[in-house]
Amino acid sequence: MVEVGLNYEPMVFPPLKGEKAELSQIQKDILKLKKEKNAVILAHNYQIKEIQDVADFVGDSLGLAYNAEETDADVIVFCGVHFMAETAKIVNPTKKVILPDLDAGCSLSDACPEERLKEFKDKNPNIYVVAYINCSAGVKALSDVICTSGNAKKIVDQVPKDKEILFVPDQNLGEWVSQQTGRKMQLWPGSCYAHVLFTFNALHKLKEKFPEAKIVAHPECVKTVRDLAHEVCSTEKMVHYCRDNPADSFIVVTETAMIHRLQKEIPNKTFIAGPTNTCACNECRFMKMNTIEKLRDCLADLGPEIVIPKSIREKAYEPLKRMLEWSK
Ligand code: 13P
Ligand code: SF4
Repeated sequence: MVEVGLNYEPMVFPPLKGEKAELSQIQKDILKLKKEKNAVILAHNYQIKEIQDVADFVGDSLGLAYNAEETDADVIVFCGVHFMAETAKIVNPTKKVILPDLDAGCSLSDACPEERLKEFKDKNPNIYVVAYINCSAGVKALSDVICTSGNAKKIVDQVPKDKEILFVPDQNLGEWVSQQTGRKMQLWPGSCYAHVLFTFNALHKLKEKFPEAKIVAHPECVKTVRDLAHEVCSTEKMVHYCRDNPADSFIVVTETAMIHRLQKEIPNKTFIAGPTNTCACNECRFMKMNTIEKLRDCLADLGPEIVIPKSIREKAYEPLKRMLEWSK
């Protein structure tokens, strides 16, 4: 095995000292526009901190889906990636759903094109498809039930025992769920380009530098990385884990913007960014396509808008509805 040393300074976020960031003019403009348009801003934990700080709700894919379903605002401004905004439209179709950058995609979603899943299903007509929410509306429409990293175990546990499962599109999450549930599943060969950059070697070196820190990792990481973690969970559960655990410091093995959310919720603890072989932190380039300026412009223009053909939207709602029910 090639030994990779940490040839960069670890990125350490010490406890906050009660300082509160002033809102910038553009953030104030966004809050004004939000009121005028009767909009709600939903933001994923991986959004830049300027966006998180003006959002009505910041959370993981599951929390965002529930919030999108429940809102009575006229407009949902979704600060996340395309499949998340599509999910909001599917669960609440009468609302206008807008996304600051329509090109904010996801490598997991791209790994499972609808046509390829359709071909697979044609050859395996009895297969039960559990789809991770990181997929297109077209893939959701071909699936039996959806899951997120926050409820995957609970969902797979409820799939009838006589069914053979195909898990799409994340092989790493699928492998982890299979371990957790003892359920054998066929795994679609997709992965998150960002989470697979975390390596055993880099994390091991960081662990040696911070032996007291607890490691919390996202299940999209590869098994050797997951095996080094004290806890493997969704981004929302990371907040609960770091708050409830008596440790003072945590190595956070997921997209680095997560640390902003953690610091806001738990200001008295230290967070250290999970490392890759070449960098002290790790950002999702798709999540970072949403900028504060694009957020302002999309609120002003009420676009770009998420549009899904009715037939796909209705089919995609069935497995999503099942997830929201099974997950309660
Ligand atoms: P969470 O649902 O845990 O927030 O994960 C979403 C995601 O895209 C992780 O890369
Ligand atoms: Fe997709 Fe990975 Fe980005 Fe999450 S971090 S949105 S899985 S590319």
